[in-house]
Amino acid sequence: MYELKPLPFLYQDLEPFIDTHTMGLHYWKHQMNYLIQLNKLLEKNKFSFSYPMEEIYDYITSFQKEDQNNILFYLGGVLNHNLYWQSINPNQKEFLQGNLKDAVDQKFGSFDHFKRNWIENAMDLKGSGYVFLVKTPKGEVEIITTQNQDSPLQFGYIPLFCIDMWEHAYYLNYKNEKKNYIDNFFQLANFRYANQKYNEKI
Ligand SMILES: [Fe+2]
Repeated sequence: MYELKPLPFLYQDLEPFIDTHTMGLHYWKHQMNYLIQLNKLLEKNKFSFSYPMEEIYDYITSFQKEDQNNILFYLGGVLNHNLYWQSINPNQKEFLQGNLKDAVDQKFGSFDHFKRNWIENAMDLKGSGYVFLVKTPKGEVEIITTQNQDSPLQFGYIPLFCIDMWEHAYYLNYKNEKKNYIDNFFQLANFRYANQKYNEKI
């Protein structure tokens, strides 16, 4: 069975931007539930657990048809949160650098334009979902939004960085003030994982 990756920081490390209670619920209740439900469905399908979770997207049609949508949902629930934790990790923070910085500058003109585009996408997102910075098959970068727990991997993109726009990510602290959550996200943003992932060969 798959296991939950350890959180790369303590629940209280994101205060005051993300409160300790929200962080604890988010990791230990929400993400854990996605993992439990995913494992149950995979066991039901007599899955071997012999390859990395990300590769399930490539073999989704090998599972029972009635389970495929649920597997995609819970799989995204685990993987999208793993990326979100990296994106807000307060340890060893990095700004955009190297090849990824060049790609972002080329696409958006500047970090300020990237940030403005990011905030617009997050504000426009209806219902639950995520905003992602992704690497395209051509090696360019784009900002995309996905609904619910859809992953950029389903659309041929490599996810580099994301913000969780489900209300469970912010509602206890920010209530309906979604814009404040998005603005404060940039106080937490860590591009260390994104910088590394962008440079990996596909
Ligand atoms: Fe979440």
